[in-house]
Amino acid sequence: MIFRQLFDATSSTYSYLLASRCGGEALIIDPVIEKVDRYLQLLRELELKLVKAVDTHLHADHITGLGALRDRTQCITVMSEHSRVDVVSMRVADGDRLQIDGIDLDVLYTPGHTDDSCCFRMADRVFTGDTLLIRGTGRTDFQNGDARAQYQSIFGKLLRLPDETLVYPGHDYKGDTVSTIGEERRCNPRLQVKSVDEYVELMHNLTLANPKMMDVAVPANMRVGLHQEDVARRGWSTTAEQALRIVGQPDVVLIDLRERAERERNGSIAGSLHVPYPSVQESTRAGGMLHALAKSTGKRLLFYCAFGERSAMAVQAAQDAGLSTAFHLQGGLAAWKAAGGPVEPQ
Ligand SMILES: [Fe+2]
Repeated sequence: MIFRQLFDATSSTYSYLLASRCGGEALIIDPVIEKVDRYLQLLRELELKLVKAVDTHLHADHITGLGALRDRTQCITVMSEHSRVDVVSMRVADGDRLQIDGIDLDVLYTPGHTDDSCCFRMADRVFTGDTLLIRGTGRTDFQNGDARAQYQSIFGKLLRLPDETLVYPGHDYKGDTVSTIGEERRCNPRLQVKSVDEYVELMHNLTLANPKMMDVAVPANMRVGLHQEDVARRGWSTTAEQALRIVGQPDVVLIDLRERAERERNGSIAGSLHVPYPSVQESTRAGGMLHALAKSTGKRLLFYCAFGERSAMAVQAAQDAGLSTAFHLQGGLAAWKAAGGPVEPQ
């Protein structure tokens, strides 16, 4: 396995690069915008293909690298279903599994520091974001923080993991890099409380200044979405209302770009072909399956995904490959459902 713990000294943020092997798919957790060039260089050096960029929560102390990495690598951006960002490509919920080639992360929804905080567990380790820090816990006094919820997230979820589980936090201000669940249970001063009320009181009595970057970072991090209007201006989009009339016409073929688990959870539009987003570049290129389908039948490819992010990137790839009639469903399945479009279970 490839595992890199990367540090941004300005915000004391840890970012994590994961891959199962050289030459394979990679995933990054909590990237920082100023470090994007460094991540891209490391990806090149290790011959990795970045396929997912994940934020554990909406950050207040740095600007996320999610949007820049998406623009430069066409990776999928991932956050919690509770995150109030304009759009990310994929939203995850408690119990979901976040996957890339050779690596599985279990999603734990752990509100408290913010109401969208998640932790990600992988085999022997857990990435705790700002929920559990080394000898500390994330503050709960802004961004819909809630000390009571955080107590439940830590005591009810994280501390139930095996004691030897490695803890990789989202920040450290003292130079520590890793801990374990057992060590934090015994030595973390915030966790030496006898009740949830005692924890709430402890957290309420911390008097902390707001992070320096807060007024800049929070609004910036709420706007990580692709500008789907740009794609629409080129005539490569359809609204959900228009799509309701188009779908089913013989000259249109629907392509669902989501992952199998998303299809199982949310259903899909009847008659869709399933072509997961990571394979769409290859499939739309000359010699690829979708390229051949569009050219041989003359049908228009109508891409869709969860929120219109992956499909906007796919339509760009298809257009680049000479499929000039390709278009996508703006706003994705979410917009389709909101317009009353029917879905069928998988
Ligand atoms: Fe945070």
